[in-house]
Amino acid sequence: MNDVTAPTAPANLAEVLALVAQDRQSVDELIRRRLASDVVLVNQIAQHIIGGGGKRLRPLLHLLSARAAGYSGNQHIQLAAVIEFIHTATLLHDDVVDESGRRRGQETAHQIWGNAASVLVGDFLYSRSFQMMVELERMEVMQILADTTNTIAEGEVLQLMQMGNADLAVDDYFRVISDKTACLFAASTRLGGVLAGLRASDCDLLADFGLLLGQAFQIADDVLDYQADHGTLGKNIGDDLAEGKVTLPLILALERTRGAQRDRLRQIITTGDGAGGIDEVISALAATDSLNDALAQARKLAQRAAAKLEILAPSAHRSALEILARYAVDRSL
Ligand code: IPE
Ligand code: IPE
Ligand code: MG
Ligand code: MG
Repeated sequence: MNDVTAPTAPANLAEVLALVAQDRQSVDELIRRRLASDVVLVNQIAQHIIGGGGKRLRPLLHLLSARAAGYSGNQHIQLAAVIEFIHTATLLHDDVVDESGRRRGQETAHQIWGNAASVLVGDFLYSRSFQMMVELERMEVMQILADTTNTIAEGEVLQLMQMGNADLAVDDYFRVISDKTACLFAASTRLGGVLAGLRASDCDLLADFGLLLGQAFQIADDVLDYQADHGTLGKNIGDDLAEGKVTLPLILALERTRGAQRDRLRQIITTGDGAGGIDEVISALAATDSLNDALAQARKLAQRAAAKLEILAPSAHRSALEILARYAVDRSL
């Protein structure tokens, strides 16, 4: 593969993006084209959330996985758009469920148009993604994405059941983040292998890569919820605590405090006094080094993720995937 036409390995995120610039542009064009609806409000809300940008990380992982696995066709463009539509649908629903006020640096759709409209346009995006995946006429692809969307819904419900639970175990936290977030990452990378016709065991390893990276990504998100500059993040910080959501940093802080301090943390979580208790929680997280340790765990997951790529022949695209594993943790947005 060392011929003169092979692209050189990217060294940073900008070079990763440049490596698949053309594919990414095709995905963006397709997304814009397939958003269209005769119904004005569908267009308005869909344009609002899609136009807000977003990192497009899942489509990027899919494009790179397909290329790294040796795929040379063009179905990955359509699948990348399908994946972003699924993701965007979950965000519209998620912001209603979480009562979040900001997303992608703007007011959330439900703040502007109300919960009903947001949920229904989320359904529009979901069903549009199903129309597009059916067009590919590949049963295995449909099976993977049907299972994935079902698992995401389970993860969200599981998380709902755990709201305000100060006894949430680490294993239960991992089940939630695997289902609600990491499984779509796993589908994105697995599908790259499926398109390329890799054997099942290699597709499983690509899926493991996505799953571990997705877990690391969600842990980093949970850390950012306590420490980001919300102007950069594009979301309000402190949302998790405000709604009684217990995430890894808080689990670690609970493990590391005793007596009255621990009782107070538990009280903030169980009484839903998150908004009032945010400063106390941030002090406890700092005193117990819980944010740093959560990030350290995320970094380990990202390293384990990158090791799964060894089944693929070395290439610029494989190197790009390795860079993304690191970026999933060490990011500010
Ligand atoms: C937000 O995902 C939901 C989580 C799983 C944390 P992203 O952080 O990828 O959101 P966008 O698409 O870039 O806005
Ligand atoms: C997002 O989870 C997961 C899904 C959208 C399924 P979060 O609720 O933790 O993500 P943010 O912080 O709102 O982006
Ligand atoms: Mg949310
Ligand atoms: Mg949520």
